[in-house]
Amino acid sequence: MSSYQNLTVDVSERIATIAVNRPDKLNALNAQTIEELGRAVDEVIERKDVGGVIVTGTGEKAFVAGADIRELSQMGPVDGVDVSRAGQRVFRRIELSRKPFVAAVNGFALGGGCELALACHLRIASSRAKFGLPEVKLGIIPGYGGTLRLPRIVGKGRALELMLTGEMIDAEEAHRIGLANRVCEPERLTEEARGLLSTILGNGPVAIGLAIECATRGMEMSVDDGLGLESNLFGLLAATDDMREGMTAFLEKRKADFHGV
Ligand code: COA
Repeated sequence: MSSYQNLTVDVSERIATIAVNRPDKLNALNAQTIEELGRAVDEVIERKDVGGVIVTGTGEKAFVAGADIRELSQMGPVDGVDVSRAGQRVFRRIELSRKPFVAAVNGFALGGGCELALACHLRIASSRAKFGLPEVKLGIIPGYGGTLRLPRIVGKGRALELMLTGEMIDAEEAHRIGLANRVCEPERLTEEARGLLSTILGNGPVAIGLAIECATRGMEMSVDDGLGLESNLFGLLAATDDMREGMTAFLEKRKADFHGV
């Protein structure tokens, strides 16, 4: 496993947990943390012993309180493009991963932190979580994909309200608008995220990956192109051992034993 200064990465029972670990800076994403996150995401995607990933923040207060404002304050326009692209690349890799990523949002998920949660496939919020895109308060806009992903998840009107006011919403409101899939007490967050991933990982791994691909790519193309993708991947699954096993197990009234092939 690679070594990281600003992250911890643990793997147990096929679930990797990546925790951003700069609690004294509320886990703000500086350039080094983005670089490490990119490596950690590549590592867990490639590891054969990992089926799904939890992304979270260290400490009680923050998931990730945004990009590092001290670093951003020094940027010029050319660096600005690079900073944005570096984060976008990492977050896109998460979004397009065929392994499910669940954000366990334990506190502030602001700016780049909210965008990190948006790039994950599912979001579970502790009742103490707060979400927001406060970039306009700093004279910038979200630069890690938030302007695209938030409207796709909660609708354009709600997304623009968050982006234009820069105000935070609590976990209940995030749940109400579909930004958080579930809300739980802070002490149950890890258990809830692991439970959700364990349920997912009991299903056919190839099917899980292709469902993520269809939902993600499908929202980025025309309905006809998306339907074409869906039928091709549906057909591809008909060639897998997992499909035969899943259907045979149903007919034999037993639990399926999937091998991801
Ligand atoms: N970038 C850099 N440092 C940050 C940060 C960020 N996005 N968010 C918090 N920090 C640092 C603070 O500067 C402070 O560091 P210090 O102790 O060296 O002064 C430390 O984390 C603790 O934050 P603090 O502001 O003292 O905590 P708080 O409880 O008073 O407020 C927040 C919490 C989240 C409301 C506040 O930190 C905040 O508004 N952060 C910025 C959020 C933001 O605009 N994100 C989008 C960036 S594009």
